[in-house]
Amino acid sequence: MKIIESVSQASVYVADMRASGKKIGFVPTLGGLHKGHQLLMQRAREENDAIIISIFLNPMQFRKPQFLKYPSDFEQDMRVAEEINVDMIFHPPVAEMFQHVAHIDNFFKFQTAEAAHRQDEHFVIEQQDENGIDNLVRVPSNLVYQLDGKIHPWTFDGAATIVYKLFNILQPESAYFGEKDIQQLAILTKMAETYFPAIKVIGVPTLRDADNLAFSSRNVLLSDEQRRTALSVYHALKHGEHLIRTGESDAAIVLNAIKAIIAAQPLIKIDYIDIVDKRLLKYAKKISDDMILYAAFFLNGIRLTDTLIVEL
Ligand code: PAF
Repeated sequence: MKIIESVSQASVYVADMRASGKKIGFVPTLGGLHKGHQLLMQRAREENDAIIISIFLNPMQFRKPQFLKYPSDFEQDMRVAEEINVDMIFHPPVAEMFQHVAHIDNFFKFQTAEAAHRQDEHFVIEQQDENGIDNLVRVPSNLVYQLDGKIHPWTFDGAATIVYKLFNILQPESAYFGEKDIQQLAILTKMAETYFPAIKVIGVPTLRDADNLAFSSRNVLLSDEQRRTALSVYHALKHGEHLIRTGESDAAIVLNAIKAIIAAQPLIKIDYIDIVDKRLLKYAKKISDDMILYAAFFLNGIRLTDTLIVEL
């Protein structure tokens, strides 16, 4: 397994792979590899000749305290990658990916600055913002101001920017992302369609534990009772799915039924629950297309989410 830190070496590596006719699958990560990443890597392994993962803790996506606290352990990540036969880990330092950013704090200033160039329906690439961030991808308002993006739209500009840079460098055939981060997946799918039509963005279904709780590294913080309580959210979403599949097309009725089940759990504080169209992430009063049922909630101060995709 090769470890490459520089953009120029990564480009040479990829060019060699292509010259030998190898199909490259790519799994971008922030590090802290867990079972969810393993699933993405396994899928990439099955469908490609070579797999590259990137481990890059992208400061654009975090507030400073969370960035500093992120559990990074490169040695451990290497062991996980090795088990899955990853061919190359791209592990660049921040200065390699953002050559014009003079200080790490500039990334956190970008989050509070007005996204002046954002458009309603089209991606915009800012050549360089006032903080020195080059090739800054502004996600269109119609995709970003939905679900979690209503709370922190800049996270998605950050993810789109780094994936845009990584796609340019690594030019894979396919890239793998979890359906658990469904808004990110919808945004990156659209971004790839716009700028990288040759790259296939593949959504991998949410990994669930044996009891069906969506896998999250935060689940270890839950007691057995809290875990059972968290599962009631999954059951509420499943009930919503059942209503849709048995003919209910009024989104408000489905949404209220889901909310009622979750609201009956006193330990859960609902952040929000939403039903949106899978492609456009829009709330539609009438359900007629593939839908996403999404719940974000707090349990004992821990924020958890669950997502069900209902393909019609
Ligand atoms: O989902 C993630 O881990 C990150 O948002 C990604 C796609 C690696 C970009 O930094």
